[in-house]
Amino acid sequence: MADETKTAKLTIGDKTVELPVFTPTAGPDVIDIRKLYGQAGVFTYDPGFTSTASCDSTITFIDGDEGVLLHRGYPIGELAEKSHYLEVCYLLLYGELPSPTELEDFEDRVTNHTMLHEQMMNFFRGFRRDAHPMAVMVGVVGAMSAFYHDSTDINDEWQREVASIRLIAKMPTIAAMAYKYTIGQPFVYPRNDLDYASNFLRMCFAVPAEDYVVDPILSRAMDRIFTLHADHEQNASTSTVRLASSSGANPFACIAAGIACLWGPAHGGANQACLEMLKEIGTPDRIPEYIARAKDKDDPFRLMGFGHRVYKNFDPRATVMKQSADEVLELLGVENNPTLQVAKELEKQALEDPYFSDKKLFPNVDFYSGIILEAMGFPTSMFTPIFALARTVGWISQWKEQLNDPQLKIGRPRQLYLGETQRSYTDIENR
Ligand code: SDX
Repeated sequence: MADETKTAKLTIGDKTVELPVFTPTAGPDVIDIRKLYGQAGVFTYDPGFTSTASCDSTITFIDGDEGVLLHRGYPIGELAEKSHYLEVCYLLLYGELPSPTELEDFEDRVTNHTMLHEQMMNFFRGFRRDAHPMAVMVGVVGAMSAFYHDSTDINDEWQREVASIRLIAKMPTIAAMAYKYTIGQPFVYPRNDLDYASNFLRMCFAVPAEDYVVDPILSRAMDRIFTLHADHEQNASTSTVRLASSSGANPFACIAAGIACLWGPAHGGANQACLEMLKEIGTPDRIPEYIARAKDKDDPFRLMGFGHRVYKNFDPRATVMKQSADEVLELLGVENNPTLQVAKELEKQALEDPYFSDKKLFPNVDFYSGIILEAMGFPTSMFTPIFALARTVGWISQWKEQLNDPQLKIGRPRQLYLGETQRSYTDIENR
């Protein structure tokens, strides 16, 4: 817990209360309002939590004004360039970069948990073939609590560790199976001789009729996309996982709740919505029409992949993703990808427009990711499942951190009630 460094005075009517102020290692001071209702009989009001810290954490830090993202203090650009996803998973989970032995042991543990209980295959067959893969992931991940009873007790540290490894290890298998089911192809089992990203690509794109050789370019790009999506402070889906966990729910139920929240187009669903928007725009000459719509208060349309609650500068993940898009598409021989050209021109025109620059609306992580994923062969419906796969380690790391917090209480916000005051029932014959 942070140390109290100063106090804030709040005067309401004839009452003045003093509230402790904590100074973090980075970011703005926070006012501790936990005793406010007891001392002053008032609530604070902050729908969307634009000015509210829901917890203290040591995992990830974002400086939205500077466009900085740190995982345990390491900048995302360095991790994307020099590290790889499972090493970033270790960093997020345990707080430090692993030694060679620690990394080998961690990767072995993950590799040896990638298979799914065989009976869980039946869940997939209960869905329509045209089910969105996110619907399948919500269902199957939630159902893991019905199969892995030996890792659902949140009060047992070893069971928490096993559940963490199982979720990180099995998410690619589940996502790949969700994809295979929707295209009517047989499931492909994971292989222990492949790295995490290569395994996922093979489970998605291999068919029994021929050998599948993983393209190292795609595998590196896939791994980098996983790293860029790993964790992001108290975003909506992470906050959902924390709130679900605060009631004591088992880890699989909590992660299923996070997947459900991530699906929304304002959050993780934006990568699918963004590519669909870019394709709807189609050609650069139609960009002004869509920018005008995004600026029109009477039009609900927004530029998908643009804007962010925290970043009021470039999302550093978008910067890396844009570079990766150029590299991957060139290596795949599709550098003249029309969708990428539209995206780059849209970004240029939007950032030159005062509406976007004044509101500090920049491309976010979802703006370029779909272009790479489509070039890699994924349908748009798989974009958010890939985000969920990658974010699982962030959800789990935050879940573990919260369970280790001695101050853990069930999350139970209050409200500003604007409804009817008490009144008596009227019999129907008198209405
Ligand atoms: C993710 O929180 C995270 O960390 C999330 C995430 C993660 O890694 O977990 O980073 C992943 O969810 C990225 C965001 C993906 N979503 C999108 O790309 C969808 C499009 N973006 C917007 O819906 C919006 O920007 C949000 C939801 C991302 C942020 O919304 P906020 O912070 O609530 O901001 P707001 O809606 O109050 O907008 C402020 C102003 C408004 O105009 P005014 O009412 O002040 O006049 O900016 C406008 C908005 O209308 N605005 C946009 C816009 N985004 C905001 N106008 C046009 N196009 C946009 N994309």
